[in-house]
Amino acid sequence: MEIDKRITGKTGLTGVIGYPVGHSISPQLHNTVNKLTGADLVYVPFRVEPGELGRAVSGLKAIGIRGFNVTIPYKQEIIKYIDEISREAALIGAVNTVKNESGRLIGYNTDAEGFVRSFKEETGTGFKNSRVLVIGAGGAARAVALKIALEEADMIHLANRTLSKAMEIARVIRDNTRCRTECSDMEGLSDGGIIREFDIIINTTPVGMYPDIDKMPVDEKLELSDNQIVYDIIYNPPKTRFLLKAEQMGCRVVNGLGMLLNQGLAAYEIWTGRQLDGRVRDMLFTAFVKYFKRQEGFA
Ligand code: ATR
Repeated sequence: MEIDKRITGKTGLTGVIGYPVGHSISPQLHNTVNKLTGADLVYVPFRVEPGELGRAVSGLKAIGIRGFNVTIPYKQEIIKYIDEISREAALIGAVNTVKNESGRLIGYNTDAEGFVRSFKEETGTGFKNSRVLVIGAGGAARAVALKIALEEADMIHLANRTLSKAMEIARVIRDNTRCRTECSDMEGLSDGGIIREFDIIINTTPVGMYPDIDKMPVDEKLELSDNQIVYDIIYNPPKTRFLLKAEQMGCRVVNGLGMLLNQGLAAYEIWTGRQLDGRVRDMLFTAFVKYFKRQEGFA
């Protein structure tokens, strides 16, 4: 029998706190990265019951955790319990990554970073001077829209079922960046003409996600052209109905898998100060595409 030496007395602890955490892919992602890079770290899910966040964070600090991710429903509430927060995470109003620096907890938002990295990697372009439509105005939309504004987009149009939530994100963008904003409800988009004005269209709503794969966040009859890029933060299915339609009309389409993986890689970099080389990244992406295909509950 072989002794399992993956975890020793020197192994550093990382993990994710949330409720629930059972569906999180982060343990597989981070432990695979640790194995690939040889980092002496282990990544564990921590299910934190409602009302227990403060105690959980004190406990993690007391045992000297290196860093941890934060997921639903604690990405906002965690801010109360950390010592410092990056400017970007403060603007977004949410922290998904915490680093423990000698007992001081520093909060970051790598969802936003993961989104921009994946967009740039997969399209070869960025957001500077672009006109962007963001559909949805929840937590993901806020991270994505703020980051795009900080990347010097010319204009962001926020379209959401509940107009007031779009207006709140637009206000934060206007108060903190030079990016222009517009808002509408979803009916405001149904005039097909408006959607053709954008260089980039991003769906941040869960509409079209497995198992509701026949749904679309915008009107079925929308018309797009081949100079537009369409990004859907959904990665299950790998091509939502929205992406399939956009692809048929000649658009470049990108799903959310790159965002998911890159937010994890950005967290790893924050905790370790190490960058992953391109070869390791490519191996990881290929492995996860295959992994999802074999998972139950994945289209
Ligand atoms: P997250 O924080 O992960 O982004 P969220 O806060 O639940 O998730 O936000 C989901 C977004 O998708 C919201 O903008 C939501 O619209 P409302 O603000 O009106 O709730 C939008 N959304 C969810 N289901 C939708 C649906 N069936 N049709 C249109 N928009 C939907």
